[in-house]
Amino acid sequence: MARSHQTFVCQSCGAVYNRWRGRCEACNGWNTIVEETGGASPAAGPVATRPSRAKGRIFPLEGLSGEVKDAPRTPSGIAELDRVTGGGFVRGSVILLGGDPGIGKSTLLMQASAALARRSERVAYISGEEAVGQVRMRAERLGLAAAPVELAAETNVEDIVATLTQGRPPALAIIDSIQTMWTETVESAPGTVTQVRGSAQSLIRFAKTSGTAVILVGHVTKDGQIAGPRVVEHMVDAVVSFEGDQGHHFRILRAVKNRFGPTDEIGVFEMMDGGLAEVPNPSALFLAGRDLAAPGTAVFAGMEGTRPLLVEIQALVAPSALGMPRRAVVGWDPNRLSMVLAVLEAHAGIRLGTHDVYLNVAGGLRITEPAADLAVAAALVSSLSGTPLPSDAVYFGEIGLSGAIRPVAQATARLKEAQKLGFARALMPQGRGDGGERGLPAESLRHITDLVAGVAAG
Ligand code: TYD
Ligand code: MG
Repeated sequence: MARSHQTFVCQSCGAVYNRWRGRCEACNGWNTIVEETGGASPAAGPVATRPSRAKGRIFPLEGLSGEVKDAPRTPSGIAELDRVTGGGFVRGSVILLGGDPGIGKSTLLMQASAALARRSERVAYISGEEAVGQVRMRAERLGLAAAPVELAAETNVEDIVATLTQGRPPALAIIDSIQTMWTETVESAPGTVTQVRGSAQSLIRFAKTSGTAVILVGHVTKDGQIAGPRVVEHMVDAVVSFEGDQGHHFRILRAVKNRFGPTDEIGVFEMMDGGLAEVPNPSALFLAGRDLAAPGTAVFAGMEGTRPLLVEIQALVAPSALGMPRRAVVGWDPNRLSMVLAVLEAHAGIRLGTHDVYLNVAGGLRITEPAADLAVAAALVSSLSGTPLPSDAVYFGEIGLSGAIRPVAQATARLKEAQKLGFARALMPQGRGDGGERGLPAESLRHITDLVAGVAAG
């Protein structure tokens, strides 16, 4: 029975089957399952053949504080990036940076590498996708060609680890991208789940033993042709996604998982001709080009982590020619829109059952906070009635199914940001917990009917 073990692995989510099938039951992807030859894990193999079984060392928890202090963070020098990682790269940690192809991952990491290298840290940039000359061309475009970053075009993990372990270990090593890497410990073709996982395992081991912070770039693909970075998400210390809209020039860096820092912070960048520029005041960017006199727009005072962020919510309500009116949402949860529409109908008598409803968060931002309910409702009522909302007002508050407007966290920070940007008043829940020290006059609303009456009064 020397037949090598065949498995069928979903290239999108990593689920393993013993027969081929057209559709993955775990992630519902079609044609994502590919035959791979065994040897799934480098750690597998008969235990008895391992060379030695040295005893593990046990440390007392309370005595470790000194060692932790010895492993500080290395700030990248790019404030928006450091905010997301929690103050810099932790020594020996591994970050997965995921994002659509072309979003700017290589650009961001080249800028971070150069910033770090200029502070005389050793930084290695390993590209498996581009030749060294191409990476240099990008650096020249970014005006960073003079930075002492070590470049290599290499895809074999064993070679990479051998190169990086020569001399003093780098403070930061970038692997662009994990999908192009292959390790000799695994037989499968490069780009398959087994290879991606095996390569990631070796690189993670390198990070932990050398103390080098490693960033793995992972392309997110929808067609499942190359293994998605999801298969390594649980192995790394932090997962950061780089998001953006092809039609817009700004990009958002968001921590999805972070063992050493917050997960609710975002970093905002603008893609310019000379690379990514930090956006220290994103509210001004998201509110740029606002049409003050148009009905159907409301400014939402939102929070992303500890940072307040003002965005414009746009609604268009128009009589529908269809039996089933359209509901189209960009940047918000369609289920929450349905709920707000139902509450408006049930508690304020606003019937939108024969209207098409379009909702858009301006600038391409994606909002997840329920606190946006009130701004959405205001924009909808304003569009339906054709009455513009006051241009100097911001809105925030969660709407309950009873129509009550419920308090939300961090009201003070939201109000201060609104005042900083020249807003004169806030329509918000009747709230406690603001500590009195408010940024601007607040008009508190108890019920959705207060909002509707306010919009009608102009
Ligand atoms: P890139 O970093 O190569 O994306 P990724 O590594 O995520 O695939 O960025 C590619 C895009 O960014 C490309 O469409 C060109 C654009 N770009 C700029 O607009 N300005 C620049 O300075 C650079 C380097 C790239
Ligand atoms: Mg790239």
